Amino acid sequence: MNHNCRIVIVGFMGCGKTSVGRRLARALGVGSIDLDSFITKHERRSPAEIIETDGEPAFRKIESRALRKVLEDSSSSVISLGGGAWTIEANRTLAADYNCFSVWLDAPFEICWKRIAGGNTNRPLAPNRRNAKSLYESRRKDYKRANLRIGIGPRAVVENTVMRIISEIEKVSETK
Ligand code: S3P
Repeated sequence: MNHNCRIVIVGFMGCGKTSVGRRLARALGVGSIDLDSFITKHERRSPAEIIETDGEPAFRKIESRALRKVLEDSSSSVISLGGGAWTIEANRTLAADYNCFSVWLDAPFEICWKRIAGGNTNRPLAPNRRNAKSLYESRRKDYKRANLRIGIGPRAVVENTVMRIISEIEKVSETK
């Protein structure tokens, strides 16, 4: 992989972006960052708290600003985005401007929902199954714009997902 290239991990809430991003970076021997954690650290409030108190549009502005800051700092080569970040055209353009290679973790809704419902992360944009499902469907068209789609099955193991991503990226770099 071109060493100027960054990888952004995108996909719906609960698809595994954070853990795959962290392990992928470890396997590649590069730094990683989780955009939601970056926001939490800098805003001293989690994305969920920001959405609940200031609303989603205010959160999206903070998120886009945070993405720009992260991209300007060259130390993180793997960036895991929050589930909605890739649905914003300006963020996709920004990622392309910074030579990012985007990877969509395409997990079935049932897997995502199980993690959303069973996890301890508050996700105000997916308060119930019906809302989550309709958001999941409406966002697929945006996730499809990623450079690479990695299907995640019900028994997917993070290490295998990472190996698949690396092998796909190698194929792409060979053809360049
Ligand atoms: C959001 C997903 C969350 C977080 C925020 C909004 C979304 O991140 O950024 O609650 O719009 O899908 P995860 O995808 O890590 O849950």
